[in-house]
Amino acid sequence: MRLTKEDQQALNTTLAPYLADDAVRQMASYTQHGTVSTLSHCMNVARTSLWLSRKLHLNVDTKTMLVGALLHDFFLYDWHGAGWRHSYRHAERACRNAVAHFDVDEQTQHVIRCHMWPMGIMHVPVTREAVLVNLSDKYNSLHETLFQRH
Ligand SMILES: [Fe+2]
Ligand SMILES: [Fe+2]
Repeated sequence: MRLTKEDQQALNTTLAPYLADDAVRQMASYTQHGTVSTLSHCMNVARTSLWLSRKLHLNVDTKTMLVGALLHDFFLYDWHGAGWRHSYRHAERACRNAVAHFDVDEQTQHVIRCHMWPMGIMHVPVTREAVLVNLSDKYNSLHETLFQRH
């Protein structure tokens, strides 16, 4: 999937202040799937969400969606040693970190909290931004696990 020059520019401008933050950069040192770092995974999800919103001609709040995507796995530990509870607990942890570090608003918290649905059955994505990030996360997780192992 290719973003237009304008969309790539919008993505860079929106996320630049977050990418300059030490805690966000810490995600580059954790492996998410295959050989992909958590930070690269989150950037993949941000890119896919934006691409999908354009393809489907959905009117979304771009900042909410992109910041939510960048911080959806902002749990800040190596999950490989974290045990099975990680799968349903990390979204809440990422959300707490996002509030603590950036005081993100309710809409952005919703995007982060619901990204694992239907796992974590209580947190159903009900906004366009949250649905797009949820789908993009699943697509990228699968792609990274299957095809990005070297
Ligand atoms: Fe996740
Ligand atoms: Fe993810």
